[in-house]
Amino acid sequence: MRIVEVGPRDGLQNEADLVPTEVKIGYVERLAAAGLKQIEVTSFVSPKWVPQLADAAEVLAGLKLPDDVVVSVLVPNQKGLELALKAGVKRVAVFTAASETFARKNLNRSIAETLADYRGVVRAALDAGLSVRGYVSTCFVCPFEGPVAPEAVVQVTADLLEMGVDEVSLGDTIGVAVPPQIRTTVGAVLKAAPAERLALHLHDTWATALANVWAGLELGITCYDSSAGGLGGCPYAPGAAGNLATEDLVNFLERSGYPTGVDLARLAEASRYLAGHLGRTLPSRVLGRIGA
Ligand code: HMG
Ligand code: MG
Repeated sequence: MRIVEVGPRDGLQNEADLVPTEVKIGYVERLAAAGLKQIEVTSFVSPKWVPQLADAAEVLAGLKLPDDVVVSVLVPNQKGLELALKAGVKRVAVFTAASETFARKNLNRSIAETLADYRGVVRAALDAGLSVRGYVSTCFVCPFEGPVAPEAVVQVTADLLEMGVDEVSLGDTIGVAVPPQIRTTVGAVLKAAPAERLALHLHDTWATALANVWAGLELGITCYDSSAGGLGGCPYAPGAAGNLATEDLVNFLERSGYPTGVDLARLAEASRYLAGHLGRTLPSRVLGRIGA
């Protein structure tokens, strides 16, 4: 099983009060110490759109991580890629959506415009020796348009893979999908892309994320995104709550017979470190039980 920890990016991007750079660094280093091997650390997006992550370069410059930890950052355009290259990052993630209104609200462009831009961004990243992940948001339900047709998800996923991303993460951006939708939509995508190239990115607004992981496992998906403590949300997706909590995911996978390599007690230390700085408890059910 592979877990992509997105707490420092997806989790923090939704926090209104600025978290100090050194706290972000301490948080990421603790996540790595817990055994997480793929961490999405921050975004090089417009600081006007996401002020919380305006210190992306400083966070990356201050990090001390084991060599086997893969750091990735979100980039929405060529400018983001240039900043990521300058920061010495080896993996970037481009992101678009399966619904037009969400693409417009999140990136100020149509889906086709984002894909046209990404063709150049992905080419330049690969030429520079980087690897690239792709995200498709609103794969199941769009907060503005409602249910999303599986064909739209299949098309955007195929376009991203064709331009050279090595993995596409399918997002339940507002955390409302249920297992039958996972089976239908991911099942359709699997006709165009192998399971090894897909990940599920589940938010947990309606407490359906773990059921959706199980549906994903049954379809052969072995990569899941999650956020320590269950922090998260997208500032441009009304109603989106936190991501599936990494503690909840790790507990669920391990006890179902799928090793993750993550030390739950140390993961809880990372979440509590951040929660202490945010001044509130985090929503993960499992976190609430570890060491409590
Ligand atoms: P825009 O306003 O249309 O673009 O935004 P612009 O080109 O006019 O740029 C506006 C300003 O930002 C300019 O500065 C640019 O230089 C600057 P000014 O001249 O006004 O001083 N700028 C940048 N600065 C730093 N880094 C950059 C960058 N690009 C432009 N890369 C844009 C278009 C794409 C930039 C904007 O819409 C944006 O940044 N969007 C990102 C929104 C975002 O981060 N959303 C959350 C992440 S996605 C998510 O959470 C979903 C996911 O988790 C999966 C799921 O759950 O579904 C991945
Ligand atoms: Mg997300």
